[in-house]
Amino acid sequence: MEQAREWIQNASSVAVLTGAGISAESGVPIFRGDQGLWREYKPEDLATPEAFMRDPRLVWEWYDWRRQVIAKAEPNPGHRALVELECRKRRFNLITQNVDGLHDRAGSGRILKLHGDIWRLRCLECRADWPDRRAPLPKLPPHCRCGGLARPGVVWFGEPLPDGMWLEAEHAASDAEVLLVIGTSAVVYPAASLAGIARRTKARIIEINMEETAISHEVDCSLRGPAGEILPRLIA
Ligand code: OAD
Repeated sequence: MEQAREWIQNASSVAVLTGAGISAESGVPIFRGDQGLWREYKPEDLATPEAFMRDPRLVWEWYDWRRQVIAKAEPNPGHRALVELECRKRRFNLITQNVDGLHDRAGSGRILKLHGDIWRLRCLECRADWPDRRAPLPKLPPHCRCGGLARPGVVWFGEPLPDGMWLEAEHAASDAEVLLVIGTSAVVYPAASLAGIARRTKARIIEINMEETAISHEVDCSLRGPAGEILPRLIA
C-alpha cells in the first residue's frame, strides 16, 4: 500500500480502468463469479445484437430491470476517491467498462465509457441517441420519436466500441506513468489489453480487486480487498 501510494503521488499522469467491481459496494451486481449476472443469465440471450433482433422485448426487460437496480444505487467511496485523484493530477484519464453512470454521479469529469451507457437509448432507424433516466420505462420496447425501435446505448458482445473511443483509451494507457486497474476480472477485450499497453510504456500497474485476476501476474502491485475501502486509503 505504501509503495503504491508513493507511485501515485509521484506520477504526473495517471490512468484508471474500472470494471463492475467498483460498483459492487453500491449494490450493482457484477457479471462473473458466484454472485455474477452471467451465472443466472446467458450473454448470448441478452447482450448481443442477434438476441435483440430476435426478441427486443426480452432484452429490454432485462435492461429495464438493471436500470431499476442501478437507479437505487449511490456512488460509493471508491467512485469518490477517483474524483479526488482527478482533481490532483495534471493528466488524468478515467476509462470504464461500466454502463451504470455511477462515475458521472460521483462527479468524475471526462469518462471514456468503453461499453456505452445504460441511461442512453439509440434509434435503430434514424440513429438518434438520447438520454432517458426513467426506470422503469413506461413501455417496452421503447421507440424513438421517428417511430423506430430503440435499443440500449450499450456495447454488446460482437460489436465495435464507440467511434474513436478505443484510440483515446489506448493513448491514455500509453501516456500513463501509473495505471490503476480496479474491480475488473480483465477477461473482456479490448479493455483487458490496456494493462499490456501501459506496461510496454513502462507504467506502474496497480490492481485493486477482491481476488486474483487474469492480469494479476503482470501487475506491479495487487491490493486485495474492496475498492470502496482501499481507494480512499490509497488516495488519502
Ligand atoms: P466482472 O464481473 O467480470 O468482474 C468483476 C471483478 O470485480 C471481479 O474480478 C471481482 O473479483 C471484482 N470485485 C467484486 N467486488 C469488488 C469490490 N468490492 N472491490 C474490488 N473488486 C471487486 O466485471 P468486468 O470485468 O467489469 O461487458 O466485466 C467486463 C465486461 O464483461 C462488462 O463490461 C460486461 C461484461 O460482460 C458487456 O456487457 C459488453
